[in-house]
Amino acid sequence: MHLRRRTQPIMLAAFVLAIALVSQTVARYTPDWGSLDARPLPSWYDEAKVGIFVHWGVFSVPAFDSEWFWWYWRGEHDPKCLAFMLKNYPPGFSYPEFAPQFHAEFFNPGDWADIFKASGAKYVVLTSKHHEGFTNWPSPYSWNWNSVDNGPHRDLVGDLGEAVRNRSLVYGLYHSLYEWFHPLYLSDKKNGYKTQQYVMHKVLPELYNMVVRYRPELIWSDGDWEAPDTYWNSTAFLAWLYNDSPVKDTIVTNDRWGDGCYCKHGGYYNCKDRYSPGELPKHKWEKCQSLDKHSWGYRRDMKMSESNGFTLCHRGSGLYCGSRR
Ligand SMILES: *[C@@H]1O[C@H](CO)[C@@H](O)[C@H](O)[C@H]1NC(C)=O
Ligand SMILES: *[C@@H]1O[C@H](CO)[C@@H](O)[C@H](O)[C@H]1NC(C)=O
Repeated sequence: MHLRRRTQPIMLAAFVLAIALVSQTVARYTPDWGSLDARPLPSWYDEAKVGIFVHWGVFSVPAFDSEWFWWYWRGEHDPKCLAFMLKNYPPGFSYPEFAPQFHAEFFNPGDWADIFKASGAKYVVLTSKHHEGFTNWPSPYSWNWNSVDNGPHRDLVGDLGEAVRNRSLVYGLYHSLYEWFHPLYLSDKKNGYKTQQYVMHKVLPELYNMVVRYRPELIWSDGDWEAPDTYWNSTAFLAWLYNDSPVKDTIVTNDRWGDGCYCKHGGYYNCKDRYSPGELPKHKWEKCQSLDKHSWGYRRDMKMSESNGFTLCHRGSGLYCGSRR
């Protein structure tokens, strides 16, 4: 009798432990969309409602046309951009020469975070790396093309993150998969994306490094559309992110993980830029809107008539904030 009574709680404990082990096994995500898409969106995102998106990089130095300036100038030979360079810079001036002029001398992350907080926004997303490839943190995979070796000589991602989190705001990072002119990317592209030199030696090591180092609560992925998600190894990365990364329980992602992915796979949906669904969609989504109708980054010649009905309250360094009129 006595023996029996004593064994019951132990057996119960063993049973509970077995359930815990089983449910832990079940909760692991596999690197396929069926599994990854079934992950529930972490609740903080549902509750946050409003966020701030900051585009800042070497493109903020010419601050002409848009953050796509390098591509329009050197990729498409846009006459407006060619004329701008001819008029304002010496012959032969190259895009990387803008980087030493990226001083960020008035950057006070505490001031930015105060404005973000006062706006009522609950999360802040900074471009860790846009399509130009310049990393706003000392990436070991972006030698001399990052904000500590070059330009401001400062860890912009780290410094802003500290200030933002200090105000109890959630911190996320925008990350472009592709880089317009990266030699390894161009060579994979030439091979019809049958090789993955760029992904294996640049994108993935850098992404893993970024997540472990800064523990962002949101990854706003972009620059995916030229190649399929299998080229980017997106599902393998996301499975790691959701299963084993230091932010596995809180991380929120968007839907730009390969050609044909957006509005279909990933975390919440952005769909195309500035997309408005018209009616309330079944899937969680984010309406991502720029204050400037033409550019996501700072543009020196922007006119108020070109704004999306927002009031700009600070134009100094690619930082916009405001509220709908
Ligand atoms: C913000 O920083 C101040 C000063 O260093 C510190 O006392 C405070 O605990 C921090 N708040 C949060 C939420 O981290
Ligand atoms: C890339 O994906 C393949 C197949 O999905 C996987 O075997 C490999 O481990 C992945 N590599 C990385 C670095 O994620």
